[in-house]
Amino acid sequence: MSPMSDRPTVPTFLYGTAWKEERTAALTELALRSGFRGIDTANQRRHYFEAGVGEGLAAAYRAGVVTRADLFLQTKFTYQRGQDHRLPYDPAASLADQVAQSLASSLEHLGTDHIDSFVLHGPESGYGWTDPDGEVWEAMRCERDAGRTRRLGVSNVALGHLEQMEAEGAELPEFVQNRCFARTGWDRQVRAFCRERKIVYQGFSLLTANPEVMQHPPFIELAAKVNATPAQVVFSFALAIGILPLTGTSSAEHMQQDLASLQITIPDHLVRAIESMAG
Ligand SMILES: NC(=O)c1ccc[n+]([C@@H]2O[C@H](COP(=O)([O-])OP(=O)(O)OC[C@H]3O[C@@H](n4cnc5c(N)ncnc54)[C@H](OP(=O)(O)O)[C@@H]3O)[C@@H](O)[C@H]2O)c1
Repeated sequence: MSPMSDRPTVPTFLYGTAWKEERTAALTELALRSGFRGIDTANQRRHYFEAGVGEGLAAAYRAGVVTRADLFLQTKFTYQRGQDHRLPYDPAASLADQVAQSLASSLEHLGTDHIDSFVLHGPESGYGWTDPDGEVWEAMRCERDAGRTRRLGVSNVALGHLEQMEAEGAELPEFVQNRCFARTGWDRQVRAFCRERKIVYQGFSLLTANPEVMQHPPFIELAAKVNATPAQVVFSFALAIGILPLTGTSSAEHMQQDLASLQITIPDHLVRAIESMAG
């Protein structure tokens, strides 16, 4: 296991690099120039251009904006089912080898010898933690123990996956990254499981998954009261209930606004009201 000193603090906001294609490098660099220090990507060419993220990082290093040590870099292992033909591993290899090949390719894309978080993009089945998941998780632990990632996470999990991992005595993740729908109380059950075990809950699609909240008149009034945009209120609310938010913005102005939402304080009673607004 890596010494604690090698484990940088987890930032309070992550910049998400999905669906940026040929703009990935420029937007990654812009996010760093804007002040983001956490970058989320995946070795899944279908939705992410990880090599473009690496180009953006390199440009920011060259310009003296940041150094590698300032950053929290997170990427993911994606099963073949979630990929297109541009695979970062040999599909005939064992799952353990696919994990090792995927991470080796990520390190090359990102121009680093280690990442800060390696996430299982999604379990093999929506209905439980399967033997293949166990094999992949074990291989991810080996990568962590070899120092190629500092921490491990899982994504797109239901409470049942986490409970099963725990019941089977599997090492629990340090991160859970889920799509966060207001109608499920903002993933209330999974968040509670994480809170009790000190797992950091990362929430994505906070804006795109919740248009009904952002268009809800009392929510818009609340935003006006705290002098913020509805998007900013979603992010500062997320922080207030212990979520580490991701933003996928492609706009320089929204990058600034998203980071500024860290400074907005929503009174407790309004936090509770938003928490139960839709679920
Ligand atoms: N683990 C997974 O399976 C998974 C799945 C999906 C996403 N993710 C990660 O999460 C990241 C974010 O996902 P997402 O793109 O769905 O998230 P999102 O941040 O909820 O959605 C991005 C959208 O919100 C808009 N936006 C952002 N900030 C805004 C602001 N201040 N005001 C108004 N609109 C704003 C953006 O428009 P503008 O571009 O115009 O700002 C864009 O249309 C992804 O890039 C990826 O890294 C992970």
